[in-house]
Amino acid sequence: SIEQVISEWEGQVGCVGFDHETGAFFSIAIHSRALGPAAGGTRAMRYAGFDEALRDATRLAGAMTLKMAIAGLPMGGGKSVIALPAPRNELSEATWRRILEVHAENLATLAGQYWTGPDVGTSAADMDVLHERSGGFAFGRTEAAGGPGSSAPETAHGVHVAIHAAIREAGFDDLEGRRVLVQGLGAVGYDLAARVAADGARVIATDLDAARCERARRELGAEIIEGDAVLATPCDVFAPCATGGVITAGVAAELPARVIAGAANNVLDAPSTADALARRRIVFAPDFVANGGGGIHLVGREVLGWSPDEVAAHVEGIGTTLSEVFELARHDGVSTERAARMLAQQRFEAPIAAPAAP
Ligand code: NAI
Ligand code: PHE
Repeated sequence: SIEQVISEWEGQVGCVGFDHETGAFFSIAIHSRALGPAAGGTRAMRYAGFDEALRDATRLAGAMTLKMAIAGLPMGGGKSVIALPAPRNELSEATWRRILEVHAENLATLAGQYWTGPDVGTSAADMDVLHERSGGFAFGRTEAAGGPGSSAPETAHGVHVAIHAAIREAGFDDLEGRRVLVQGLGAVGYDLAARVAADGARVIATDLDAARCERARRELGAEIIEGDAVLATPCDVFAPCATGGVITAGVAAELPARVIAGAANNVLDAPSTADALARRRIVFAPDFVANGGGGIHLVGREVLGWSPDEVAAHVEGIGTTLSEVFELARHDGVSTERAARMLAQQRFEAPIAAPAAP
C-alpha cells in the first residue's frame, strides 16, 4: 500500500502527481542531497499500481545515493518514475510529448535539487525535451543538442570491468569458453553481450523482445533461452540487465551461477539476500558499484567537465572499487553487498564538499 511505501521511506523529499489528460502518474523521490544535488534517471513503464511505482522510485533513489557515493561523484540520489497509461510503444507521439512536458514542469519546480537522466523507457532524445522544458535539469542529452549522449555504453563498459573483477574473485582469469547469461538485451545488455562475446565467452541470452534475441543470435552467436529458464540455466556469469528484484532468497539458494554482475538496479529483493549468495560462495558484484558507469559518464562529462577518456579511466576504476569490496567482505566475513554499503557510507562520514546553495 501507499502507507507502507511511505512509512518505509528514508529519503528527504518525495513528490507525486497525476496528469488527467494522459492518465500518467508521476513520482520523484529525492533520497539524499548530502553529497550534492540529487541525481538519477527517469524510468517510464507500466506498473501494477501507483504504490508499485512509488516503491520503485523510492528504492531506486536510495540506490542512486549509494552509487554516487561509492563512485566518488559530488551528487546525491534521486529517481523519477512515470507509471504509463499504456506500454511506451503504444503511446502516440503527442501523448508521450505531453507526458515529458508535465515531467519537465515538475523538474523545473524542484529547481535543481534534483537532476534527471535516462533510464528504462527514456532516451537521450527525451532528455533533450526535458532539458529544454525544465530549464536545464536533465543529464544525457543527444550530442546534437550539446549533450554527452547515451549513458548506456559507459554503463556496459563498467559492468564488463565488474565481470572481470568478479571472475578473478571467483578464481578464473578470463572468459574464454565461459558461459555468460545476459538477461535483457536493451541498450546496456546488448552492448555488454557484445563485449563478452569479444572476450570469447559463450553468450546465453534472453529478452521479451524477439527481435533483440534474433539480433544477438545472428551477430553474437548467442544461444537464446526462454525468459522462464533464466534462473535454472547453468552459467559461469549471470548478468541481469533488465529490471530489479530478480534475486530473491529462494533464487539465491538455487541459482546455478558462480558470479552475478549486471546492470539492473536493485537486483536483490533485499540487501540480506546477499548473505544467502555469500553462503553459497557465489561472487556478487553489488549493482550500485557495477552499474556506476552511466552516472560516471553523465556527471563526469556534464558536472565535472571530464573528457571521454577521463570518463573511461574512471569507469575502469570500478574494478579497483570492487576489489576493495571483495577484500572487505572477506576480511569482515560479511556479504559483498554489506561491504559495498560500508564503503559507500564512508563518504558520508567525511563529505568532500557541501552542496552549493542554489
Ligand atoms: P532498456 O530499456 O534499453 O533495456 C531493457 C531490456 O530488458 C529491454 O530490451 C527489455 O525488453 C528487456 N526486459 C525487460 N524485462 C525483461 C525480462 N523479464 N526478461 C528479459 N528481458 C526483459 O534499459 P537499459 O538502459 O539497457 O537498462 C537496463 C537496466 O540497467 C535497468 O535496470 C536500468 O535501470 C539499469 N541501468 C541502466 C543504466 C544506463 O545507463 N542505461 C545505468 C545503470 C543502470
Ligand atoms: N539511470 C542510470 C542509472 O541508474 C543513469 C543515470 C545516472 C541517470 C545518473 C541519471 C543520473 O545509473
